[in-house]
Amino acid sequence: MPRLHPARAGRNVAEKAPCRSGASPETAMPLLQAATAVRENAYAPYSRFKVGAAIRSASGAIYAGCNVENVAYPEGTCAEAGAIAAMVAAGETVIAEVLVIADSPSPVPPCGGCRQKIAEFAPQDARVTLCTTDGVSRTMTVADLLPGVFSAAHMDRA
Ligand code: THU
Repeated sequence: MPRLHPARAGRNVAEKAPCRSGASPETAMPLLQAATAVRENAYAPYSRFKVGAAIRSASGAIYAGCNVENVAYPEGTCAEAGAIAAMVAAGETVIAEVLVIADSPSPVPPCGGCRQKIAEFAPQDARVTLCTTDGVSRTMTVADLLPGVFSAAHMDRA
């Protein structure tokens, strides 16, 4: 059996948790500040859509990332990927909470690829808060974000 990441062990079935709307809890405030600040550094000359993401890891540290586009469009990276890379580069591999912010009419959800990237390091019940710059937020879990996640257990027969 492939070795499971600690965040994944025993958590391969998506939990049924409804999406919730409303104000972020207090733990999200430092994440909001970090994501809002890093969003200013986004390099998005092609889409002009700046995104900031912040992760609270298991240790309590906060890691931030912004989108970094490229003239060869597919080479661009999302804010979530940047925050995850910063966390892993710092030696951590467990996400406790995620927050993403953008200037959009409604809270913009992470793209499909970023959902899988978050699921690699987060337990299914980790909170994900999506925010607009004008104060609308939506909070859900990683399981809500990516039902039926592909996990290492699916490769058990390989
Ligand atoms: N983007 C992110 O960084 N995160 C998301 O959750 C959605 C999309 C970026 C990628 C690209 O630079 C721009 O937003 C437009 O798609």
